[in-house]
Amino acid sequence: MIPRHIAFIMDGNGRWAQAHGMPRYEGYKHGLEALLRVAGRLEQRGVGAISVFALSTENLSRPKDELSAIFDAVIKFNKTYFGTLRINYFGDIDALSDDIADSVDDVERRTSINKGTSLNIALNYGAQTDIVHAAKLAADKGSFLEDEFLSSLSTAGLPPLDMVVRTGGERRLSNFMLYESAYAELMFMDKLWPDMTADDADAALAEFEKRVRKFGK
Ligand code: IPE
Ligand code: IPE
Ligand code: MG
Repeated sequence: MIPRHIAFIMDGNGRWAQAHGMPRYEGYKHGLEALLRVAGRLEQRGVGAISVFALSTENLSRPKDELSAIFDAVIKFNKTYFGTLRINYFGDIDALSDDIADSVDDVERRTSINKGTSLNIALNYGAQTDIVHAAKLAADKGSFLEDEFLSSLSTAGLPPLDMVVRTGGERRLSNFMLYESAYAELMFMDKLWPDMTADDADAALAEFEKRVRKFGK
């Protein structure tokens, strides 16, 4: 079976740049190219939704040069993407600069007519904050209803999350889609994100195919 929704923790960009004799911030440009390769193949394979972790709220404490390189890559992508994926962002975009927020609005509007695969980009996102925020909205309605909570998560409306893939060798979720990943298959790859190819996307789908899902039954 092809996953309805697959997520990637795109880790290892800084180490990739260092391994190639470049400053860490150079890794993000190459990370963006890897994202286009991977998402393009998953789209061809018929995956309904792709979610990717581009920047955590905790990452905002990174050095300035790294953050500007990440934001430059995001803005460049938003301004130059004219493909067939439907692009959506989630996370606290309003807390970022107007340049970033405007470019996000732009690409979301431009690609909203695309009917196939969605690419959901987590930027300035943290799952714990997202969960608390959704819980608060639900509680503010007077009675705490699960439906109200679910529809207030920033991932509301996306298909159930079937698989989470983390590159870069670390085996942790680092505050990404904690609620949504309850029954997701987890896959950890040692490859650094900028090295990801279309074949690696196929490998993730092949791994998913092998997993036996039980959902407690
Ligand atoms: C992950 O890559 C992406 C962001 C944090 C934006 P890193 O920058 O964490 O790369 P490594 O893990 O240090 O190599
Ligand atoms: C997770 O990677 C965040 C993104 C991939 C955007 P980190 O590099 O920030 O995670 P830790 O610090 O190793 O847990
Ligand atoms: Mg990292």
